[in-house]
Amino acid sequence: MAKLRLENIVRNFGKVKGVFDISVDIDDGEFFVMLGPSGCGKTTTLRIIAGLETPDSGKVFLDEKEITDFPPRERDMAMVFQNYALYPFLTVAGNIAFPLKKRKIPPSQIQEKVEEVAKVLGISNLLEMKPGQISGGQRQRVALGRAIVREPSLFLMDEPLSNLDAKLRTSMRGELKRIQKNYGTTTIYVTHDQVEAMTLADRVAVMNNGIFAQLDSPLEIYNMPKDTFVATFVGDPKMNMIPAELVNNGKGPNLKIGDTIVDLDLSGLSMPSGVQSMDVSLGIRPEDVKIVERGLNGKVVVTQNLGKSKIEHIQLSGSNAEVIRMTGVESDLDSGQSVSIMPNESKFYIFDSANEKRIWPLTG
Ligand SMILES: Nc1ncnc2c1ncn2[C@@H]1O[C@H](COP(=O)(O)OP(=O)(O)OP(=O)(O)O)[C@@H](O)[C@H]1O
Ligand SMILES: [Mg+2]
Repeated sequence: MAKLRLENIVRNFGKVKGVFDISVDIDDGEFFVMLGPSGCGKTTTLRIIAGLETPDSGKVFLDEKEITDFPPRERDMAMVFQNYALYPFLTVAGNIAFPLKKRKIPPSQIQEKVEEVAKVLGISNLLEMKPGQISGGQRQRVALGRAIVREPSLFLMDEPLSNLDAKLRTSMRGELKRIQKNYGTTTIYVTHDQVEAMTLADRVAVMNNGIFAQLDSPLEIYNMPKDTFVATFVGDPKMNMIPAELVNNGKGPNLKIGDTIVDLDLSGLSMPSGVQSMDVSLGIRPEDVKIVERGLNGKVVVTQNLGKSKIEHIQLSGSNAEVIRMTGVESDLDSGQSVSIMPNESKFYIFDSANEKRIWPLTG
């Protein structure tokens, strides 16, 4: 059982901002994912939790007990590093068994545990090999195995699947989730891969420049992104952002793109008092771009057939925005063709260009 709390954690490296004011409560048994681009502070946060790094300010609590200054060995956490290190002179079995041997567990029990974990990770046939004789992806799984046999109170994982090929990644993702739910071990997992975050996490913290831009369930992050960073970081192809304007028509705002007033229901949305127009972005996910009779006019510039879906690039007229539409393979749009688009039903977002925050939908 392990609950973890971070309270106003700050860590800078000279002038470089590593982590800036992070606070979170992570529940017992939770699969918590930190997702963000390179350099946003994911590893630094994980190292602070592990005790490998000391925060400039802020506190770390494990089950209500402050552990900010505890050394790593007093924290009962198993960390799988981005650059995992195995003992080169030990076999795969020896590497996985290492944490158990230190605990003086009887050899027969150790062997049983090692074999069980190796089976789950699909490396049973490698147990007698040395790390130098196996591939990077296989070494990564050995490192995972070594963490799993320890049965720690907390797993800390830093991009543990990054060296695997795409197919193995997908299957290991499933395995990892199964293992985590089986053991019920609180897990803090770092990745820059949004699919990994969405599929594994109970909750996702999307990180940007050392802060949590949004902390929510994967669905909430996808459906109700708080700002343009989260909206465009999560989703592939990413959300279309079309420069637009909100103009006051006397009763409320209209959305205008170029010279076209876009016929969208914005009831309930109000503009700051005295403001007649403001710059915004209209956000539409590629799967929610619909071809219509009357809407935003444009021209298809290129199409890509992915076998099970199609991606169409549409250049809007009267705007320099190119919109990406994701659709079924039955779509017969061709390059050069004129089309008119609209968001599907009410599936669109509006972001204030001044601060990048979402202002539509109103909820959340
Ligand atoms: N020991 C260090 N000395 C100086 N700067 C550091 C150090 N560790 C991290 N940084 C800086 O702090 C910031 C956050 O780094 P961090 O390693 O936490 O990023 P990350 O999100 O894990 O990135 P990646 O996805 O590339 O692993 C970066 O700008 C990095 O250059
Ligand atoms: Mg990192």
